[in-house]
Amino acid sequence: MSDRWYQKAVVYCLDIDTYADSNGDGIGDIRGLIGRLDYLARLGVTCLWLNPIHPSPDRDDGYDVADFYNVDPRFGTLGDFAELLHQADNLGIKVIIDLVVNHTSDQHPWFQSARSDPESPFREWYVWAESAPPDRHQGMVFPGEQGETWSFDRTAKLWYYHRFYKFQPDLNIKNPAVREEIKKICAFWLQLGVAGFRMDAVPFIIEETEPGHPNPPKNMEFLTELREHVQWRKGDSVLLAEANVEPEQLVGFFGDGGGSGNRIHMLFDFMLNGRLMLALARENPEAIIEALRETPKLPRGGQWATFLRNHDEVDLSRLTAEQRADVFAKFGPEPEMQLYGRGIRRRLAPMLGNDRKRLELAYALQFSLRGTPVLRYGEEIGMGDDLALEGRDAIRTPMQWSILPNAGFSTASKAELVRPVVDHGDFAYEKVNVTQQRLDRKSLLSWFERMIRTLREAPEVGAGSCTHVDVPVPPGVLVHRADDSTGTMLFVHNLGPDDGTVDLSSLYPEAESPNDVLADREYADLGKFREIEVAGYGYRWIRLRRYS
Ligand code: NOJ
Repeated sequence: MSDRWYQKAVVYCLDIDTYADSNGDGIGDIRGLIGRLDYLARLGVTCLWLNPIHPSPDRDDGYDVADFYNVDPRFGTLGDFAELLHQADNLGIKVIIDLVVNHTSDQHPWFQSARSDPESPFREWYVWAESAPPDRHQGMVFPGEQGETWSFDRTAKLWYYHRFYKFQPDLNIKNPAVREEIKKICAFWLQLGVAGFRMDAVPFIIEETEPGHPNPPKNMEFLTELREHVQWRKGDSVLLAEANVEPEQLVGFFGDGGGSGNRIHMLFDFMLNGRLMLALARENPEAIIEALRETPKLPRGGQWATFLRNHDEVDLSRLTAEQRADVFAKFGPEPEMQLYGRGIRRRLAPMLGNDRKRLELAYALQFSLRGTPVLRYGEEIGMGDDLALEGRDAIRTPMQWSILPNAGFSTASKAELVRPVVDHGDFAYEKVNVTQQRLDRKSLLSWFERMIRTLREAPEVGAGSCTHVDVPVPPGVLVHRADDSTGTMLFVHNLGPDDGTVDLSSLYPEAESPNDVLADREYADLGKFREIEVAGYGYRWIRLRRYS
């Protein structure tokens, strides 16, 4: 059984500005979040991941940081933040924050100094070129919204590198002073009490960029150095990295614990995310089986973080053109639902036609697979999106708490809200909100509470091994199992619409007193464990044995 907290965590991701507004200015804040910690504790969340909290011109939802050592005054003060950490800790909830150190905002004093004074100590903190780099139209992350990766700065009279938007100049990782500063930033927040970091854009942080070299070498050593540093400052702190790269490159990010040392503890499983979407779209589990088969072996302590939706678009870029076309056709057929030619800017509930059965199925599946589950705020009540908003903002609307004005998110006037609340159609806050669902034992929210509690009673799930079980099944059905020294859970998920039966007799010798611990409905007793039923879009979590 794992004794590492992050391998048994249930992570909940939220953006403070759209969660809960305590002072009526239309923007969510830290005190508002503190008031909702009991809600999160009841849901069963054990770790909060906060999207960027720092002062920022907010041109990329806070991923353009202007001061790494403070919280955005719109959210409150450092004192409020320390209070949040204390209150969360009282409820057994850890807090990790986004660490966005691939780049800064162009408004950051470091960049302002670097651009305006050739003698500035910060000049070498960024990446410059004297003439227009020939590869400046390559490597854009936001095609359509971003025209180049090198822009001319009129003040410096130099070109500067920016992997993301023009207003996000990249920091120069080759400069030891920058590496030291990143460590200092981590140490500062650890000292305040955070449990770790969701590291933004890791493959780009470690790139040693040179003009004219679109594929620069990567400084993996820095990850070893950073891990050593955070671990020394706080033994159980964790690095959770965003590294959306080819599978064969992923293992290097974890490190091997040997020669290359330990690096990142947890990586978001983008590969599985794309395949889950494909499997749900095709109503066929083949892509998941493939993912389970191909998962590289992780070093001790390494862990995946699974997700269905995050705060960005659903990224389908690692699927083949044919696979991507199938997912688009099913989940994002209209151009306005798509983004960057590779993704879908919708929440899961609208993608699944607001079909409760399929929503339960999708989340039961995600939470039963290997890795630590990460849930985006609002998914637990089946919130929708607002495609009238620009780009990724479509899925960043305020949390829907109740039927009060502005969904109970804020008492400000509608015009003052940081973003409009969803107030029309099937996902309007009058129909989809926490208060109503909390009172209803059959609601999606109540289901999430039950599902998460079941998971927390099953230490083998997520942290243990996770394998496909090859037994006779109808086409849409996936059978997999989780094992560790505490016991075994078996999972049957039916991705297709038709009821089916599954022959589990080969597992009978292992089934000590099998029982359903979570299912989409009541099924007949498991009895002799031969042919068992599973409804269309149904699922059964079956405890096979428990040792302790
Ligand atoms: C990845 C983040 O998830 C995304 O929201 C952000 O725009 C970019 N990194 C740039 O920081």
